Amino acid sequence: MRIEDSIAFVSGANRGVGAGFVAGLLARGARKVYAGMRDADAARFDDPRVVPVPLDVTAPAQVAQAAALAGDVTLLINNAGINRLERVAGPRDPGAARAEMEVNYFGTLEMCRAFAPALTRNGGALVNMLSILARVALPSMGSLCASKAAALRMTEGVRAELAGRGVRVLAVLPGAIDTDMSRDFPPPKLAVAEVVDAVFSALEADPGGADDVYVGAMAEGVAAGLAADRAAVLAQFAAYL
Ligand SMILES: NC(=O)c1ccc[n+]([C@@H]2O[C@H](COP(=O)([O-])OP(=O)(O)OC[C@H]3O[C@@H](n4cnc5c(N)ncnc54)[C@H](OP(=O)(O)O)[C@@H]3O)[C@@H](O)[C@H]2O)c1
Repeated sequence: MRIEDSIAFVSGANRGVGAGFVAGLLARGARKVYAGMRDADAARFDDPRVVPVPLDVTAPAQVAQAAALAGDVTLLINNAGINRLERVAGPRDPGAARAEMEVNYFGTLEMCRAFAPALTRNGGALVNMLSILARVALPSMGSLCASKAAALRMTEGVRAELAGRGVRVLAVLPGAIDTDMSRDFPPPKLAVAEVVDAVFSALEADPGGADDVYVGAMAEGVAAGLAADRAAVLAQFAAYL
Protein backbone atom coordinates (compact mmCIF):
# COMPACT_ATOMS: atom_id res chain seq x y z
CA MET A 1 0.00 0.00 0.00
CA ARG A 2 1.01 3.64 -0.42
CA ILE A 3 1.48 5.87 2.64
CA GLU A 4 0.54 8.90 0.55
CA ASP A 5 -3.22 9.50 0.85
CA SER A 6 -3.60 6.80 3.50
CA ILE A 7 -5.87 7.33 6.50
CA ALA A 8 -3.96 6.00 9.49
CA PHE A 9 -4.64 5.29 13.14
CA VAL A 10 -1.65 5.14 15.53
CA SER A 11 -1.97 4.04 19.17
CA GLY A 12 0.45 5.42 21.78
CA ALA A 13 0.91 8.40 19.47
CA ASN A 14 1.98 10.98 22.04
CA ARG A 15 5.65 10.00 22.38
CA GLY A 16 8.41 7.62 21.36
CA VAL A 17 7.90 5.46 18.29
CA GLY A 18 4.21 6.40 18.07
CA ALA A 19 5.01 10.10 17.72
CA GLY A 20 7.59 9.10 15.10
CA PHE A 21 4.91 7.23 13.14
CA VAL A 22 2.65 10.28 13.21
CA ALA A 23 5.45 12.56 11.98
CA GLY A 24 6.45 10.07 9.29
CA LEU A 25 2.89 9.65 8.06
CA LEU A 26 2.44 13.43 7.78
CA ALA A 27 5.78 13.84 5.99
CA ARG A 28 4.81 11.17 3.46
CA GLY A 29 1.47 12.75 2.62
CA ALA A 30 -1.05 10.76 4.65
CA ARG A 31 -4.51 12.28 4.21
CA LYS A 32 -5.51 11.94 7.88
CA VAL A 33 -3.84 10.57 11.02
CA TYR A 34 -5.88 9.55 14.06
CA ALA A 35 -3.55 9.87 17.05
CA GLY A 36 -4.70 7.54 19.85
CA MET A 37 -3.42 8.69 23.25
CA ARG A 38 -4.28 7.96 26.87
CA ASP A 39 -4.13 11.68 27.52
CA ALA A 40 -5.37 13.34 24.33
CA ASP A 41 -3.89 16.66 25.51
CA ALA A 42 -0.49 15.10 26.09
CA ALA A 43 0.87 15.92 22.65
CA ARG A 44 0.21 18.81 20.32
CA PHE A 45 0.49 18.08 16.61
CA ASP A 46 0.74 21.25 14.60
CA ASP A 47 -1.08 19.85 11.57
CA PRO A 48 -4.80 19.92 10.77
CA ARG A 49 -4.62 16.36 9.41
CA VAL A 50 -4.11 14.99 12.96
CA VAL A 51 -7.22 13.93 14.88
CA PRO A 52 -6.45 13.31 18.58
CA VAL A 53 -8.40 10.36 19.98
CA PRO A 54 -8.59 9.42 23.69
CA LEU A 55 -7.47 5.80 23.85
CA ASP A 56 -6.36 3.40 26.53
CA VAL A 57 -6.08 0.07 24.71
CA THR A 58 -7.02 -1.80 27.89
CA ALA A 59 -10.41 -0.02 28.00
CA PRO A 60 -12.73 -1.89 25.59
CA ALA A 61 -15.28 0.96 25.48
CA GLN A 62 -12.59 3.42 24.38
CA VAL A 63 -11.30 0.97 21.77
CA ALA A 64 -14.83 0.58 20.39
CA GLN A 65 -15.34 4.37 20.32
CA ALA A 66 -12.02 4.85 18.52
CA ALA A 67 -12.93 2.27 15.88
CA ALA A 68 -16.36 3.85 15.38
CA LEU A 69 -14.79 7.29 14.95
CA ALA A 70 -12.15 6.04 12.50
CA GLY A 71 -14.40 4.13 10.13
CA ASP A 72 -12.44 5.48 7.14
CA VAL A 73 -9.10 4.02 8.29
CA THR A 74 -6.84 2.24 5.78
CA LEU A 75 -3.79 1.69 8.03
CA LEU A 76 -3.86 0.67 11.70
CA ILE A 77 -0.58 0.87 13.63
CA ASN A 78 -0.85 -0.87 17.01
CA ASN A 79 2.13 0.77 18.64
CA ALA A 80 1.10 1.18 22.31
CA GLY A 81 3.12 -1.03 24.63
CA ILE A 82 4.75 -1.33 28.02
CA ASN A 83 7.84 -3.03 29.42
CA ARG A 84 7.98 -3.45 33.20
CA LEU A 85 11.52 -4.92 33.05
CA GLU A 86 10.54 -7.92 35.16
CA ARG A 87 11.68 -11.51 35.42
CA VAL A 88 9.26 -14.42 35.13
CA ALA A 89 9.97 -16.65 38.14
CA GLY A 90 11.35 -14.08 40.58
CA PRO A 91 9.79 -10.70 39.81
CA ARG A 92 9.89 -7.70 42.16
CA ASP A 93 6.26 -6.96 41.16
CA PRO A 94 4.25 -10.14 40.52
CA GLY A 95 1.52 -8.05 38.87
CA ALA A 96 3.80 -6.80 36.10
CA ALA A 97 3.34 -9.84 33.87
CA ARG A 98 -0.43 -9.41 33.90
CA ALA A 99 -0.13 -5.67 33.17
CA GLU A 100 2.13 -6.40 30.18
CA MET A 101 -0.32 -8.99 28.85
CA GLU A 102 -3.19 -6.52 29.27
CA VAL A 103 -1.51 -3.87 27.13
CA ASN A 104 0.80 -5.77 24.77
CA TYR A 105 -1.42 -8.78 24.10
CA PHE A 106 -5.08 -8.12 25.03
CA GLY A 107 -4.95 -4.41 24.15
CA THR A 108 -3.48 -5.16 20.73
CA LEU A 109 -5.95 -8.02 20.22
CA GLU A 110 -8.90 -5.76 21.11
CA MET A 111 -7.69 -3.17 18.59
CA CYS A 112 -7.33 -5.79 15.83
CA ARG A 113 -10.86 -7.04 16.48
CA ALA A 114 -12.40 -3.56 16.64
CA PHE A 115 -10.72 -2.27 13.46
CA ALA A 116 -10.96 -5.43 11.32
CA PRO A 117 -14.39 -4.53 9.88
CA ALA A 118 -13.29 -1.06 8.72
CA LEU A 119 -10.00 -2.36 7.31
CA THR A 120 -11.88 -5.12 5.48
CA ARG A 121 -14.33 -2.57 4.08
CA ASN A 122 -11.66 -0.03 3.05
CA GLY A 123 -8.73 -2.34 2.24
CA GLY A 124 -5.28 -1.55 3.62
CA ALA A 125 -2.92 -2.81 6.28
CA LEU A 126 -2.55 -3.56 9.98
CA VAL A 127 0.81 -3.21 11.73
CA ASN A 128 1.58 -4.67 15.15
CA MET A 129 4.67 -3.27 16.89
CA LEU A 130 6.23 -6.27 18.56
CA SER A 131 9.93 -6.81 19.35
CA ILE A 132 12.72 -9.22 18.53
CA LEU A 133 12.03 -10.38 22.11
CA ALA A 134 8.87 -12.00 20.73
CA ARG A 135 11.23 -14.65 19.33
CA VAL A 136 13.60 -15.22 22.25
CA ALA A 137 13.54 -14.88 26.06
CA LEU A 138 15.75 -12.29 27.72
CA PRO A 139 15.55 -13.31 31.41
CA SER A 140 15.86 -9.78 32.80
CA MET A 141 12.58 -8.92 31.07
CA GLY A 142 11.08 -12.37 30.68
CA SER A 143 7.45 -11.35 31.14
CA LEU A 144 7.73 -8.70 28.42
CA CYS A 145 9.09 -11.40 26.10
CA ALA A 146 6.12 -13.65 26.87
CA SER A 147 3.61 -10.87 26.14
CA LYS A 148 5.28 -10.05 22.81
CA ALA A 149 5.50 -13.76 21.90
CA ALA A 150 1.75 -14.09 22.53
CA ALA A 151 1.16 -11.01 20.39
CA LEU A 152 3.28 -12.48 17.58
CA ARG A 153 1.25 -15.69 17.49
CA MET A 154 -1.96 -13.62 17.60
CA THR A 155 -0.65 -11.47 14.72
CA GLU A 156 -0.10 -14.60 12.64
CA GLY A 157 -3.70 -15.63 13.32
CA VAL A 158 -5.06 -12.20 12.35
CA ARG A 159 -2.89 -12.26 9.21
CA ALA A 160 -4.38 -15.60 8.18
CA GLU A 161 -7.93 -14.42 8.85
CA LEU A 162 -7.59 -11.14 6.97
CA ALA A 163 -5.46 -12.42 4.08
CA GLY A 164 -8.46 -13.14 1.92
CA ARG A 165 -10.03 -9.77 2.70
CA GLY A 166 -7.47 -7.45 1.15
CA VAL A 167 -5.78 -6.54 4.43
CA ARG A 168 -2.03 -7.04 4.83
CA VAL A 169 -0.84 -7.72 8.39
CA LEU A 170 2.73 -6.90 9.43
CA ALA A 171 4.61 -7.92 12.57
CA VAL A 172 7.44 -5.49 13.39
CA LEU A 173 10.33 -7.01 15.35
CA PRO A 174 12.98 -4.40 16.16
CA GLY A 175 15.90 -4.45 18.54
CA ALA A 176 16.26 -1.70 21.18
CA ILE A 177 15.01 1.71 20.08
CA ASP A 178 16.12 5.05 21.51
CA THR A 179 12.98 6.06 23.47
CA ASP A 180 11.86 6.42 27.11
CA MET A 181 11.19 2.68 27.22
CA SER A 182 14.83 1.80 26.65
CA ARG A 183 16.29 4.75 28.58
CA ASP A 184 18.49 2.48 30.70
CA PHE A 185 19.44 -0.02 27.98
CA PRO A 186 23.03 0.01 26.76
CA PRO A 187 23.73 1.04 23.14
CA PRO A 188 23.42 0.33 20.31
CA LYS A 189 19.83 1.54 19.89
CA LEU A 190 17.86 2.18 16.73
CA ALA A 191 16.72 5.72 15.96
CA VAL A 192 12.93 6.07 15.89
CA ALA A 193 13.11 7.32 12.28
CA GLU A 194 14.96 4.15 11.25
CA VAL A 195 12.12 2.00 12.59
CA VAL A 196 9.43 4.16 10.99
CA ASP A 197 11.23 4.09 7.62
CA ALA A 198 11.59 0.30 7.76
CA VAL A 199 7.86 -0.15 8.44
CA PHE A 200 6.82 2.22 5.65
CA SER A 201 9.25 0.57 3.20
CA ALA A 202 7.78 -2.82 4.08
CA LEU A 203 4.24 -1.51 3.59
CA GLU A 204 5.12 0.01 0.23
CA ALA A 205 6.91 -3.16 -0.92
CA ASP A 206 3.63 -4.74 -1.81
CA PRO A 207 3.30 -7.27 -3.33
CA GLY A 208 6.38 -9.26 -2.48
CA GLY A 209 7.58 -7.65 0.75
CA ALA A 210 8.16 -9.57 3.97
CA ASP A 211 5.31 -9.52 6.48
CA ASP A 212 7.65 -10.02 9.45
CA VAL A 213 9.80 -6.90 9.57
CA TYR A 214 13.07 -7.33 11.48
CA VAL A 215 14.53 -3.88 12.05
CA GLY A 216 18.25 -3.36 12.59
CA ALA A 217 21.33 -5.56 12.47
CA MET A 218 20.73 -7.10 15.91
CA ALA A 219 17.18 -8.24 15.14
CA GLU A 220 18.15 -9.48 11.68
CA GLY A 221 21.07 -11.38 13.23
CA VAL A 222 18.86 -13.01 15.86
CA ALA A 223 16.31 -14.07 13.23
CA ALA A 224 19.06 -15.57 11.06
CA GLY A 225 20.62 -17.23 14.11
CA LEU A 226 17.33 -18.79 15.18
CA ALA A 227 16.89 -20.22 11.71
CA ALA A 228 20.42 -21.65 11.69
CA ASP A 229 20.91 -22.79 15.31
CA ARG A 230 18.01 -21.99 17.62
CA ALA A 231 19.56 -23.62 20.70
CA ALA A 232 22.71 -21.53 20.40
CA VAL A 233 20.74 -18.26 20.26
CA LEU A 234 18.54 -19.24 23.20
CA ALA A 235 21.65 -20.10 25.23
CA GLN A 236 23.24 -16.77 24.35
CA PHE A 237 20.20 -14.80 25.58
CA ALA A 238 19.77 -17.01 28.67
CA ALA A 239 23.16 -15.76 29.86
CA TYR A 240 21.78 -12.21 30.27
CA LEU A 241 20.46 -12.63 33.79
N1 LIG B 1 11.96 1.14 22.91
C1 LIG B 1 12.39 -0.08 22.58
O1 LIG B 1 13.55 -0.45 22.82
C2 LIG B 1 11.46 -1.03 21.84
C3 LIG B 1 12.02 -2.16 21.24
C4 LIG B 1 11.18 -3.05 20.57
C5 LIG B 1 9.82 -2.80 20.50
N2 LIG B 1 9.30 -1.68 21.09
C6 LIG B 1 7.85 -1.47 21.02
O2 LIG B 1 7.57 -0.26 20.34
C7 LIG B 1 6.33 0.27 20.82
C8 LIG B 1 6.52 1.72 21.20
O3 LIG B 1 7.46 1.77 22.26
P1 LIG B 1 8.29 3.08 22.66
O4 LIG B 1 9.71 2.70 22.64
O5 LIG B 1 7.82 4.24 21.87
O6 LIG B 1 7.82 3.21 24.18
P2 LIG B 1 7.49 4.48 25.07
O7 LIG B 1 8.36 5.61 24.69
O8 LIG B 1 7.49 3.98 26.47
O9 LIG B 1 5.98 4.83 24.61
C9 LIG B 1 4.95 3.91 24.85
C10 LIG B 1 3.67 4.47 24.31
O10 LIG B 1 2.62 3.51 24.55
C11 LIG B 1 1.57 4.19 25.24
N3 LIG B 1 0.81 3.29 26.10
C12 LIG B 1 1.23 2.55 27.15
N4 LIG B 1 0.20 1.89 27.72
C13 LIG B 1 -0.90 2.23 27.00
C14 LIG B 1 -2.27 1.88 27.08
N5 LIG B 1 -2.74 1.05 28.03
N6 LIG B 1 -3.13 2.41 26.18
C15 LIG B 1 -2.68 3.26 25.22
N7 LIG B 1 -1.41 3.66 25.10
C16 LIG B 1 -0.53 3.13 25.98
C17 LIG B 1 2.27 5.28 26.04
O11 LIG B 1 1.34 6.25 26.47
P3 LIG B 1 1.59 7.15 27.81
O12 LIG B 1 2.46 8.30 27.38
O13 LIG B 1 0.21 7.56 28.22
O14 LIG B 1 2.27 6.27 28.81
C18 LIG B 1 3.26 5.78 24.99
O15 LIG B 1 2.61 6.61 24.07
C19 LIG B 1 5.90 -0.62 21.98
O16 LIG B 1 4.94 -1.56 21.54
C20 LIG B 1 7.20 -1.31 22.37
O17 LIG B 1 6.99 -2.56 23.01
C21 LIG B 1 10.09 -0.78 21.74
